[in-house]
Amino acid sequence: MALTEQITKENLPKHIAITMDGNGRWAEQKGKFRVFGHQNGVKAVRETVESAAEIGIKFLTLYAFSTENWDRSKKEVNALMTLLISTINKETKTLMDNNIRLDAIGDLDQLPEKCKKELNQAIEKTKSNKRMTLILALSYSGRWEIINAVNKMILEEAKQVTEEGFQQYLNTKGVPDPELLIRTSGEKRISNFLLWQIAYTELYFTDTLWPDFRKEDLVAAILDYQKRDRRFGKTIA
Ligand code: IPE
Ligand code: IPE
Ligand code: MG
Repeated sequence: MALTEQITKENLPKHIAITMDGNGRWAEQKGKFRVFGHQNGVKAVRETVESAAEIGIKFLTLYAFSTENWDRSKKEVNALMTLLISTINKETKTLMDNNIRLDAIGDLDQLPEKCKKELNQAIEKTKSNKRMTLILALSYSGRWEIINAVNKMILEEAKQVTEEGFQQYLNTKGVPDPELLIRTSGEKRISNFLLWQIAYTELYFTDTLWPDFRKEDLVAAILDYQKRDRRFGKTIA
């Protein structure tokens, strides 16, 4: 039986988050500059997005650039921003063809003007698409998001909030928490991704470097998730 057919449709994660890591090492292994790895990561993004939509995932969040990534060399940051602009521009058609809505979370004001413009155009163009929502985490960090939420609350003079109330101030407002978080490249850490939202998320780590990540890898992660016993602190009935 093909791997994809082994997926139980009734137990699909609604939301999958992915930390796309290992581009630099992938390039270095090939004796190339790090940027070559980022360029080749785009293929993995396209295939993962299309596969997730095909499988029936409703929300896919991709960690593309963290707040901390601004501290990389100017050359690498510039290359990443240029790549982001060209990718959003080229891939808007793929999103339209696949009925996928684009959204973004993070401190988007930090992005270069051209990048913001391209991003906003794509978000606007795809806003009525219904099959899946693709959320790009850009200039994102979980701590930034939480502090940002607190500051918004202070401005609104909120006195007391519930967990549900607090979620309304997060960038991910209206998006269910991810059931599954995948990180590529063998690193087993969170690196400031979705800190609030992953309270009960299942974590999946693979040694595959991001540019090599394909549909089979996504399916393998989902099948692994479907074997997990999610207890949420309770005992099994
Ligand atoms: C992930 O790959 C992409 C970004 C963080 C932008 P890296 O660039 O972190 O690659 P490694 O981890 O150094 O191999
Ligand atoms: C996390 O990867 C951020 C993204 C994939 C965008 P990093 O490579 O920046 O994280 P660390 O440095 O390994 O923790
Ligand atoms: Mg890395």
